[in-house]
Amino acid sequence: MRVKILRQKTPDSEPYWEVFDYDGSADNSVAGVLEYINYHDDTVNVDGVRSTRIAWECSCLQGVCGACAMVVNGVPVLACETFVRDLKGREIEIRPLRKFPVLRDLVVDRSSIQENLMKTDLYIGEYRPSPEEDHAHQYAAAKCLKCGLCLEVCPNYVDGSHFFGAVFANDCYLAASRNRTRAKEVAGVYAGHFGNECSKSLSCMEVCPMKIPTIASMAKLNRNKFR
Ligand code: FES
Repeated sequence: MRVKILRQKTPDSEPYWEVFDYDGSADNSVAGVLEYINYHDDTVNVDGVRSTRIAWECSCLQGVCGACAMVVNGVPVLACETFVRDLKGREIEIRPLRKFPVLRDLVVDRSSIQENLMKTDLYIGEYRPSPEEDHAHQYAAAKCLKCGLCLEVCPNYVDGSHFFGAVFANDCYLAASRNRTRAKEVAGVYAGHFGNECSKSLSCMEVCPMKIPTIASMAKLNRNKFR
């Protein structure tokens, strides 16, 4: 099997494709394939040239940290939760997320996700009791990994713009529902940075590894349920 990886040495250098052979198990995840290439046979590419190890991020290797988000065969996924046996064809194409600046190879700078929360003072503050009927969706929204996959597929999201994407909408829901004294203020930042410009493609929900029903957060915020 061939593994084609879009690589980049530094944030300012030109990206380039490099191809490796993979003859490991089909039960491996894409994260396992990257480890295999990095630590098997001295990272030699298909031309027999010894290359450098591929830079990528991981922490948990079990789908709960979001660090390994990347684009595999054109689909934004978590590398540790995507298995070779489930991919079609004899080639795996891997590239970094396209909506964030590349730092090196498959490592991107996703700090804008946190910066957007800081810019808008979006924090829960003091937890207030909330009706039991809200708890199930609060739990679902709180599962967000901040992996950036929802932003990768969003037709409206551009890194650095004032539209902050689905990850922000779910945090708005949590802030408003867990502390209703902030609900009016949260409604304003939600409208300005998400609600007024979301075109409802809802592709964010398709790719979300935690299957967060963002549309429910939107519905509750759009009808000002917390004010
Ligand atoms: S390494 Fe944590 S989600 Fe993949």
